[in-house]
Amino acid sequence: MIKNCLNNDIFLAGVNDRTTDLFEGLWPIDGVGISYNSYIIKDSKNVLVDLSKSFKTDEFFDQISAIVNLEDLDYVIINHMEPDHTGVLRTLRRINSKFEIICTKKAVKMLKDYYDVCDNIRVVEDGETLSTGKHELVFYHVPFVHWPETMVTYDKSSSILFSCDAFGGYGALQGAFFDDEYSEITYYEKESLRYYANIVAKFSTPVLNAITKLGLLDIKTIAPSHGLVWRKNPERIVELYKKWAKYSINGGENGITLLYGTMYGNTENMMNAVAQGISESGMIPEIFDVARTHPSYILPSMLKNRGIIIGAPTYEVSLFPYMQQVIQKAVIKNIKHKKVAYFGSYGWSKGAYKKVQEMTSGMDWDIHEGLEFAGRVTPELYNEGCELGKRFVKSLEN
Ligand code: FEO
Repeated sequence: MIKNCLNNDIFLAGVNDRTTDLFEGLWPIDGVGISYNSYIIKDSKNVLVDLSKSFKTDEFFDQISAIVNLEDLDYVIINHMEPDHTGVLRTLRRINSKFEIICTKKAVKMLKDYYDVCDNIRVVEDGETLSTGKHELVFYHVPFVHWPETMVTYDKSSSILFSCDAFGGYGALQGAFFDDEYSEITYYEKESLRYYANIVAKFSTPVLNAITKLGLLDIKTIAPSHGLVWRKNPERIVELYKKWAKYSINGGENGITLLYGTMYGNTENMMNAVAQGISESGMIPEIFDVARTHPSYILPSMLKNRGIIIGAPTYEVSLFPYMQQVIQKAVIKNIKHKKVAYFGSYGWSKGAYKKVQEMTSGMDWDIHEGLEFAGRVTPELYNEGCELGKRFVKSLEN
């Protein structure tokens, strides 16, 4: 039995990437990795749905060749142009110059820009179909999930949705491909949220539009191009994506992300006071040291929690640089509609609180208080910090 078989004539051909440190050159995936999933439809016309990063190309092509000779590919569907799904395209073209590329109009220029591929391209409209023999494929445009040219491919005969980035996640596959093969998928759900917050969150409105549009389909299996294939419970990953996308609109759940950076321990002392006040009010904050935690791991918490408390010192009349990096990434990822408070120590000049306000204007962050203090945390200031934490918990109730 071929283990990577989704259906009688549909196969997964993908590679695990466990050596790239930073996905997109930005996001740490060391220790977890990622998979680049591609799918083969063996029919009267042979189809490849999405490709792979230019990485382990021999292994990838060998997997395809075990099912279909590369020379016998008739169509390559490019749902999305980002090079983690298209990197091997030029090489594949050199092997087989005849296959037709199926893509949206917006992908055409990118094909030229990235790979100098200009021929044998068929542009498909939203809802257009392609018969490959037994299979009838329908293409649905889902712009900005993840790039403007993105579409998904739905196979009517098997009810499989090839969703590319949508419903994907970090985490190399561990020898099994399907959700029902893992007794525990909390790990993949957690890594999917991190992937969502890092890669997709900026486009939460397009994600919700796509979910509404695709909701009309009878989907039995979701086959993304990163991570697990969801055949037992495809609704689960759709519901998770919907929940995460809505965080960008409703501000998230009733929780608190407590960020801090510290130079000499004074802001950390105040963080402890604020955390104590929060816990005495019945909540436990998720605490991150921004100098020692990559924003990749902080963004999921900021996306999920309605409350964000920023504790960072003034650094050269501005905000502690590691905190600037976290806030900048949250702004890029459209992490909006938050209740926020600030605290931090300064030596010879204030400036951090002002910088927080400047950086987040336009994000609908309700920054309802800021506590800048000179030097150390006195007992009186410690109490003030506790009270700040308590007030913050109360503010979340409104
Ligand atoms: Fe997995 Fe937007 O590429």
